[in-house]
Amino acid sequence: MKIIMLGAPGAGKGTQAKMIADQYKIPHVSTGDIFRANIKNGTELGMEAKKYMDQGLLVPDELTVKILLDRVAKEDCKNGYVLDGFPRTIPQAEVLDKALCEIGDQIDYAIDVDVPDENIVKRMGGRRACVGCGATYHIEHIPPKKEGICDTCGMELILRDDDKPETVQNRLSVYHNQTQPLIDFYEKKGILRTVDGTQDMKDVFDAIVKILS
Ligand code: AP5
Ligand code: MG
Repeated sequence: MKIIMLGAPGAGKGTQAKMIADQYKIPHVSTGDIFRANIKNGTELGMEAKKYMDQGLLVPDELTVKILLDRVAKEDCKNGYVLDGFPRTIPQAEVLDKALCEIGDQIDYAIDVDVPDENIVKRMGGRRACVGCGATYHIEHIPPKKEGICDTCGMELILRDDDKPETVQNRLSVYHNQTQPLIDFYEKKGILRTVDGTQDMKDVFDAIVKILS
């Protein structure tokens, strides 16, 4: 099964993608996580991506597409995957379609996790990310057992640089201008499914499972 998660920054794509990946035993592929891992390791790609990410802008398609296509060509993706944060522009979606078409394949579902902008800004301020393993928490909705410390690896939890309020506003306008058109794109293909992302995480997940089964 090949799934795309759509939705504004902070809509809960990553949270749901992780749950889908666990349930259906397919890899969770997040371009944002790949970039953050590269930044952490100080790679050239990481340094380049950081320039854009810190401003809430999209990393150029040329860089992003190559990384994604390399990742989904790996052995563990042959039975499917859940894409989180890709595609984010029409050209990215077209490149993905073309690459899949060449191997006689296609995306099964594009799931839009729908959350209004007002809710987003509130959520992002409460998100905390682990500097070690990248696990995500929320100070109200998913607090770690010990404040500021990751339950999984024991490393420090921080507010992502791009979760600062000014940057969140930029990310939202980039989303509306460049990513939202993908909703129409996948609607036209007949594979768009929308879930109400303002519900409790568990209810959002139940709605997704219903779609997938
Ligand atoms: P990326 O990492 O993809 O960030 P994003 O899309 O901005 O989305 P987030 O990860 O912030 O949100 P999410 O929807 O995953 O929400 P989450 O589940 O964490 O990208 C970062 C940057 O990388 C981009 O800005 C861009 O620069 C670059 N980039 C990445 N991909 C790219 C691409 N394809 N092309 C170009 N550039 C690219 O949830 C958010 C918070 O809410 C969490 O704290 C969570 O616990 C909480 N939460 C989740 N669900 C619920 C719920 N139902 N109720 C209450 N709280 C909830
Ligand atoms: Mg995410």
